[in-house]
Amino acid sequence: MSKPSLPILSVSGVAKTFILHLREGARLPVVNGAGFDLYAGECVALGGPSGAGKSSLLKMVYGNYRVDEGTIRVRDGEEMVDVASTSPRRLIKLRDTTMGYVSQFLRVIPRVGARDVVAEPLIHDGVPPEEAVARAGALLARLNLPERLWNLPPATFSGGEQQRVNIARGLIAHRPLLLMDEPTASLDAANRNVVVELIAEKKRAGVAILGIFHDAEVREAACDRVIDVTDFAKAAA
Ligand SMILES: Nc1ncnc2c1ncn2[C@@H]1O[C@H](COP(=O)(O)OP(=O)(O)O)[C@@H](O)[C@H]1O
Ligand SMILES: [Mg+2]
Repeated sequence: MSKPSLPILSVSGVAKTFILHLREGARLPVVNGAGFDLYAGECVALGGPSGAGKSSLLKMVYGNYRVDEGTIRVRDGEEMVDVASTSPRRLIKLRDTTMGYVSQFLRVIPRVGARDVVAEPLIHDGVPPEEAVARAGALLARLNLPERLWNLPPATFSGGEQQRVNIARGLIAHRPLLLMDEPTASLDAANRNVVVELIAEKKRAGVAILGIFHDAEVREAACDRVIDVTDFAKAAA
């Protein structure tokens, strides 16, 4: 695929050191000089061993972790918004319109049924509730979540069931930039394949995906290239 000239995400010169306040302020450098661009329609994996800083980098892009140095610019229409320096209010707006995030674990909302948890981002976007709930059910069905679970809150679901609810919630609404942290870690082969298909559909819709995929088969099937976070970690040591 020929790359359009404008990136969806542009990371440049990013550095972060954790300060461990409970351990007399010990400093734990995690990345330094991290830089890469991400374009519409491609899926890029963050690679490297456990502890390399992959999740931290993803959290910095989403604005969950503060950035010490550098810029993380995300396209919102004509504008590039620097997550590292923008206001909390602008960040919330940017997430609403532009960034989807599939976290490693589902943050369960008490008493809300699985299908409503998945429908919520669509309702937030203004899709009529009836249509949103129908689309949520269709996506849960594709992910093989048994229909008898749809009205139950996911708190008591198995790890793999919760992960599928989390994936459905993260993918149901269109967002130009999608961040995924080990979305298939607790899934069996059949459901891993469904996720690979869903990622391919997002790419065809022009979504740019940045993800962590511990499963090499998923990574090879879903991703166009790998960025080795170890390179940035080495520079930080
Ligand atoms: N909130 C935090 N506070 C302190 N250290 C952290 C925090 N988050 C991550 N780390 C540390 O940063 C390093 C990178 O972690 P992480 O980004 O989770 O790696 P990966 O996702 O590649 O396994 C690890 O040594 C981890 O312990
Ligand atoms: Mg991680």
